[in-house]
Amino acid sequence: MKVAKLLPKLEKEDFKVLKAIEFGMKKSKFVKLSDIRFYARYKMEETQYRLDRIHKFGLTMRNTTKTQMAYKLNSFGYDVLALKNIVKRDIISQLGPAIGKGKESDVYSCIDDEENIYALKVYRIGRVSFKNVKLYRNLIGKRAHFNWLHVNRLAAKKEYENLEILSNYNVKTPTPIAQNRHMIVMEYLRGKELAYFKDINYPTYIFEEIIDQMKLIYRKARLIHGDMGEFNVVCDEEGNVLLIDWLQAVSADHPNALMFLKRDIDNICNYFGRKFNLESDSGKILKEFLQEE
Ligand SMILES: Nc1ncnc2c1ncn2[C@@H]1O[C@H](COP(=O)(O)OP(=O)(O)OP(=O)(O)O)[C@@H](O)[C@H]1O
Ligand SMILES: [Mg+2]
Repeated sequence: MKVAKLLPKLEKEDFKVLKAIEFGMKKSKFVKLSDIRFYARYKMEETQYRLDRIHKFGLTMRNTTKTQMAYKLNSFGYDVLALKNIVKRDIISQLGPAIGKGKESDVYSCIDDEENIYALKVYRIGRVSFKNVKLYRNLIGKRAHFNWLHVNRLAAKKEYENLEILSNYNVKTPTPIAQNRHMIVMEYLRGKELAYFKDINYPTYIFEEIIDQMKLIYRKARLIHGDMGEFNVVCDEEGNVLLIDWLQAVSADHPNALMFLKRDIDNICNYFGRKFNLESDSGKILKEFLQEE
């Protein structure tokens, strides 16, 4: 991520002005120069100098049609603020290579000072797909102006909250480490998506493990994944699994909970049937989920 290279070049005054723009963007799409100056509490000369710098670094977009120059952060500028915060809190100290590119996020590996490896998920909703527009609408509620940075922050917050709920139970979901703006740091499993395994040694074992985990999650955490399938299960060679991607999870009390649960179970059963010729009875499994313990 190019942002990692830029961080050391930025000075604290640059961050102050970036944050002033971010603050102004709560009220309007572009933030006028006079407002940025006011929020940053710098003299006009300093404000302008900083704005020129951060603009040259590619962190902002300018609007020149107004009588006054106005700015907004682009996603790169937002990355800088989020990553700076996470690094400052000593949560991570180095970024590693990209490990996944979802439709709505980029995921990187990263390490802390003690060489522990984590996954850093960076939300990129609005970049390409608009598939979950309804979900985003739910996230932002009735806010007046629609801002993608805000949507991505709420998405990260929502997924993080779901991971926190899950972390109260002993289940195979990523332990949440930290969240800032549109970024989440979480436990990492060195492996690959189930979809990318040509064959696995013990498909029945992996299948049962996934179903067992889904059942535990449903019963204990009272959550349903809502988008369960071969792309949201990470596996390693030792047969460890991690169920990931929890933004859209729904409560077991949701009016359509059963529909979501059935769909998740069907997806897993169908995948193992198709790919590994594993026979299963998804109706029976659903019944087991619903049975009193
Ligand atoms: N904790 C993790 N450990 C290991 N790999 C991970 C982890 N989180 C994400 N990944 C990798 O990054 C990819 C994208 O992550 P995730 O599914 O959470 O994002 P997404 O953008 O919501 O995906 P999509 O919308 O395409 O389903 C995963 O498919 C996986 O390969
Ligand atoms: Mg995914």
